[in-house]
Amino acid sequence: MKKIKQNSNVLFFFSDSKKWLMKVSKNQQFHTHVGVIEHKKAIGKEYGSSLKTNKGKIIYLLEPTIYDYVMKSQRSTQIVYPKDLGYIAARTGLQSGQKIVEIGTGSGSLTTFLASLVKPRGHVYTYDVDENFMAIAQKNIERAGVAKFVTMEKLDIKSAKKVPMSEVDMVMVDLGDPWTVVPQARKMLKGSGFIVTICPTMNQLEKLASALWENDFFDMEFTEQIVRTIEAREGKTRHSFRGIGHTTYVAFARKVTSPRDRRKTDAELEGATEEMQEDESLSSVEK
Ligand SMILES: C[S@@+](CC[C@H](N)C(=O)[O-])C[C@H]1O[C@@H](n2cnc3c(N)ncnc32)[C@H](O)[C@@H]1O
Repeated sequence: MKKIKQNSNVLFFFSDSKKWLMKVSKNQQFHTHVGVIEHKKAIGKEYGSSLKTNKGKIIYLLEPTIYDYVMKSQRSTQIVYPKDLGYIAARTGLQSGQKIVEIGTGSGSLTTFLASLVKPRGHVYTYDVDENFMAIAQKNIERAGVAKFVTMEKLDIKSAKKVPMSEVDMVMVDLGDPWTVVPQARKMLKGSGFIVTICPTMNQLEKLASALWENDFFDMEFTEQIVRTIEAREGKTRHSFRGIGHTTYVAFARKVTSPRDRRKTDAELEGATEEMQEDESLSSVEK
């Protein structure tokens, strides 16, 4: 049983659209449209329990997860959303102990997620050029309790004489012109390590794909993650009217250390025509 103490982080949850993430402080209260919430009422209670506002409304006291920290982070830039974060982790096998470089810290939401998975033995080295963004990112990272696993530095890797790291498991790039740092990413990665790139537009993907090709990356994949929420209620279950529109495309590629095969498509590599290529999922059903 985990109890809420002075300085514990709590997600005060009234409804899906009305929830507040705060550090509990016994003299603090906050005003909402459902009444005043007094922090001292939360102290000593178990996570999962509730309190009442002065208007008698019930507020649940939830323990924040990394999802809550990302969604409630202070935003100075566009952030990477959980739907994309999840696939990044699965596609790259992100795990504890890994060494990650991030180019473009922004609001630190991706940094927070990466650190939460590589801790306690791994580390995220993150670089940005804008000190104002970095200060906000630092606060977000500290609030999520992962600051020990993050080193943030002001550095423009595009113009740096030397890359700051080597033998890293993954280089995460979230810049407007990611193709400009592909050679630097290659220098920092260990063999078979991943470059993962956040690209809000298809035009960026095209330029990036050429740069990845030119710099001997392989196992490339360009994706868009679409999540549709469902409102499930007896007799009237349907898709939600609300939803996230376009966020970003995500590109993945791995460094190969012997010069890569110069044929560009899978079909060329396999000597097959496009029609002959089977869908992996269909072929596994037939077996
Ligand atoms: C879209 S934001 C990154 C958002 C971040 N992924 C997040 O989830 O919060 C892009 C960031 O790249 C930074 N940036 C732009 N050019 C840069 C460069 N040459 N080197 C390092 N960072 C750069 C910008 O200052 C900005 O903070």
